[in-house]
Amino acid sequence: MNGSLALQVQDLVAGYTPELNILRGITLHVARGEIVTLLGPNGAGKSTLMKAVAGLVPVRSGAVQLFGRSLVGVPTHQVVRRGLAYVPQTDNVFVRLSVQENVELGAPAGDGRQDAGEDLERMFTLFPRLKERRRQRAGTLSGGERQMVAVARALMARPQLLMLDEPSAGLAPALVQMVFDKLREVRALGVTLLIVEQNARVSLAISDRGLVLAEGQVRLSGGAAELLDSPEVGALFMGTREAST
Ligand SMILES: Nc1ncnc2c1ncn2[C@@H]1O[C@H](COP(=O)(O)OP(=O)(O)OP(=O)(O)O)[C@@H](O)[C@H]1O
Ligand SMILES: [Mg+2]
Repeated sequence: MNGSLALQVQDLVAGYTPELNILRGITLHVARGEIVTLLGPNGAGKSTLMKAVAGLVPVRSGAVQLFGRSLVGVPTHQVVRRGLAYVPQTDNVFVRLSVQENVELGAPAGDGRQDAGEDLERMFTLFPRLKERRRQRAGTLSGGERQMVAVARALMARPQLLMLDEPSAGLAPALVQMVFDKLREVRALGVTLLIVEQNARVSLAISDRGLVLAEGQVRLSGGAAELLDSPEVGALFMGTREAST
């Protein structure tokens, strides 16, 4: 296994209970600096994969490596210290806290870092809308603004790999584009991204590669452009069923 890979997953089997494996032998990788989109129908195991990588779902067998070091059995708070941040699909902001309080919570506690204030300013530079709204309660933000709060909080830990679970879920089309434009900027800062999305076209448009998961297995993978042209992806995720033969 290879340190130039941000993430390497090999034959991963995982599930919530011992009786039922949700992930049934997943193999994939994300190279440093890449953006990779993970597609798949509802219930395919996309969120479960992210949770298993983050140490939130038990791994039954197989390997997960972050920058060449095994993550299996490593508790989530240590996974974060090793450079992985994860924005879950739902409930990813504290609605009663202000924007600034939410973002500040992403700074790792107790590691003696003095520059959290600097990082906060960096986040407000990246997300000027959040700066204007720094004292506003997160629960009163628009969906797109909330996603930005969640991403900003994750970036406060200075991750090398950021995993996002459906960052555009529930957003109006104009906000979807805004979120993905921001994700492209995040990559330009040197962060590698793994994104679970239903919105295949917009996510693949900023991605290097994509994968399709179905029933806990990788069903298809390839370059982003290749997947955008694929009749199978078109039929499953872009409503272009007529494109398939
Ligand atoms: N906490 C849980 N306990 C038990 N089973 C779960 C749990 N969370 C998810 N599952 C099951 O695992 C399977 C995969 O779910 P998962 O959330 O990974 O799918 P997904 O691909 O993210 O779907 P979606 O597109 O709907 O978000 C589903 O059958 C689901 O019912
Ligand atoms: Mg999901």
